[in-house]
Amino acid sequence: MSVSFCGLDLRHRVINGSGTFDAIAAQRVFGDELYERFPFTAFVSKTITLAPREGNPPPRLWEAQAGLINSIGLPNKGLDRYLSEDLPQLAKLGVPLFTNVMGSTAQELSRLVEACAQFTQITAIELNVSCPNVKTGLDIGADPAQLQKLLSTLRPLTSKPLIVKLTPNASDVPACAQAAESAGADAVSLINTLRASALDPRRAPRASARWLGGGSGGLSGAAIRPVALAQVAAVTERVEIPVIGMGGVQTSRHAQDLIDVGATLVAVGTESFRDPTAAARIALDLDK
Ligand SMILES: Cc1cc2nc3c(=O)[nH]c(=O)nc-3n(C[C@H](O)[C@H](O)[C@H](O)COP(=O)(O)O)c2cc1C
Repeated sequence: MSVSFCGLDLRHRVINGSGTFDAIAAQRVFGDELYERFPFTAFVSKTITLAPREGNPPPRLWEAQAGLINSIGLPNKGLDRYLSEDLPQLAKLGVPLFTNVMGSTAQELSRLVEACAQFTQITAIELNVSCPNVKTGLDIGADPAQLQKLLSTLRPLTSKPLIVKLTPNASDVPACAQAAESAGADAVSLINTLRASALDPRRAPRASARWLGGGSGGLSGAAIRPVALAQVAAVTERVEIPVIGMGGVQTSRHAQDLIDVGATLVAVGTESFRDPTAAARIALDLDK
């Protein structure tokens, strides 16, 4: 089952989707047993930004028919406290650590990448490019030319593997993957959540009051699985670099589908909320 990914020898193919498993909280609950039976072959941090973020006002979740809309809004303690408080704890997990970062400008992302490059505990950097561009309102990773330019700026700042977490909210996702590869990305991961919204069921007749405090959110879980399969298949056809596939994975069959269309690793996200041992079960079943 061992697999090679960006120069790493990993025990199996299952990792977590950023923001869907809090390893520090899990350690508080399970103690050292978490380290002995850690479900993921590498751990992806939740998204870290330069400055601390509060996240969106509540409500932050909406249960959709076969999935979840979240408008958590990427709350995090900011780069400095991540490095001083979380990194020492995440380094104890005993698996490679991928730190996921997001910035709304190339300068912000450069500072994040430069800082992460200094820490041996960080194995790879995942760039979350699903952040809206302040000028256009589009995700910063939605335009292949812009993404290529961004990667050309970031690539020289580190020798660590750079994984680009593509936005699915783009008109040509494979072109974005190709642009990232041509500017030196070591891998791409997809899919992030699909833009989605829900109305307040208690609203007045014909009013359009939104349920989520953030207005809109991102859809994940089983509902997005066929979209993920299509996007992962289209991207693996266009790039040579390894692909991390995710979106609605609940069983080893779903993981195998992504592997069969060319994914090297598979990430489990929303399913871990329902069953925190899902990734271990999926890795074991894949092995069988
Ligand atoms: C509650 C929640 C929080 C998330 N936070 C992040 C995040 O901080 N950074 C990120 O890149 N993706 C984040 N994601 C997206 C997931 O990593 C993943 O790409 C997406 O949920 C699709 O996989 P899934 O259907 O298995 O959940 C989040 C998803 C959920 C449901």
